[in-house]
Amino acid sequence: MNKIKSNNIFLHKGEISKSDRQKQNGHGSCCIWFTGLSGSGKSTLAMALEKKLFDQGIKTYVLDGDNIRHGLNSNLDFSPEDRTENIRRIGEVAKLFIDAGIIVLSAFISPYKKDRDRVRNILGENEFIEVFVDADIETCESRDPKGLYQKARAGEINDFTGISSPYERPENPEIIIDNGKNSDLNKNVQLLMSYLKNKEIIN
Ligand code: ADX
Repeated sequence: MNKIKSNNIFLHKGEISKSDRQKQNGHGSCCIWFTGLSGSGKSTLAMALEKKLFDQGIKTYVLDGDNIRHGLNSNLDFSPEDRTENIRRIGEVAKLFIDAGIIVLSAFISPYKKDRDRVRNILGENEFIEVFVDADIETCESRDPKGLYQKARAGEINDFTGISSPYERPENPEIIIDNGKNSDLNKNVQLLMSYLKNKEIIN
């Protein structure tokens, strides 16, 4: 549990529960937590899955590292402490989305196991679906969609994940997506859809 800094604060329970909202929406809510190296394809996968869900009338929203760092987390950098705070905040935001009955898809490198485990604790086992987007560093580096690996190799970016900062592979994720060289986006989206159906989060 996080230490709460303020005193004299009280939780108010609203009239409408999470399950009321889920019932109205006609589906469950959860967080699909994509983790993997930069360039592994987390955002592409999250956005493709979101489109598929949205087209079926499902309430969903993507939280994406690059985007969130422009706003909510604009005061954080890539030091280990700030990455930890980045992931903690996203865990709390995801909890709010889940409470609102929404399927949240989050795409953050989230390189540290302890930070991902903390989100698992914040959300609870059934609502945290850890998806390891597995692509080797050579593949990510050859994709280099933002030219960041090149900059990191040239010493222009410090603490770059996979090069000068660690990535701790998940030990026991709910799903592993093989997103290496010959990955098939549609097939991977289908795999995630099947998981959500099997868990009866969607119909
Ligand atoms: S995390 O490590 O804190 O989870 P997050 O997912 O929010 O990272 O942001 C990662 C994105 O920031 C990368 O996809 C990349 O575009 C950009 N980025 C810029 N600098 C770095 C860096 N030093 N390490 C990793 N990603 C970086």
